[in-house]
Amino acid sequence: MPKLYFSREFKEIVAPEGRDLRTIAAEQGLQIYAGLHQLLNCRGRGLCGTCKVRVKPQEVCSPRTGAEIAKLPQTDDTVRLACQTFVFGDAEVQTFPRPRQGWMEHKVYQHLIEE
Ligand code: FES
Repeated sequence: MPKLYFSREFKEIVAPEGRDLRTIAAEQGLQIYAGLHQLLNCRGRGLCGTCKVRVKPQEVCSPRTGAEIAKLPQTDDTVRLACQTFVFGDAEVQTFPRPRQGWMEHKVYQHLIEE
């Protein structure tokens, strides 16, 4: 059974192998959504992209899904959608990960890829 350390919450939990991070967090009462997204999310269907977490190491997680590739094009590989990430080993999970770029670079990048 994998041990998961939620670094922002300073909480270590043991979870069943092969379960997704969104379900694990919900069972433990840990919040993975920021602000209004606690109510406005797709309930784990991989459509909204609001359940971002950073997971290290990636070797213990399921491969990136198509939904993650579509929703997280500009992020590094450690940022995942909790609802699409199934864990099979010990890992550290960070909720509300910061974008790799600064706010301004992120906006410029988003503008460029939308054109
Ligand atoms: S809950 Fe919507 S993408 Fe994960």
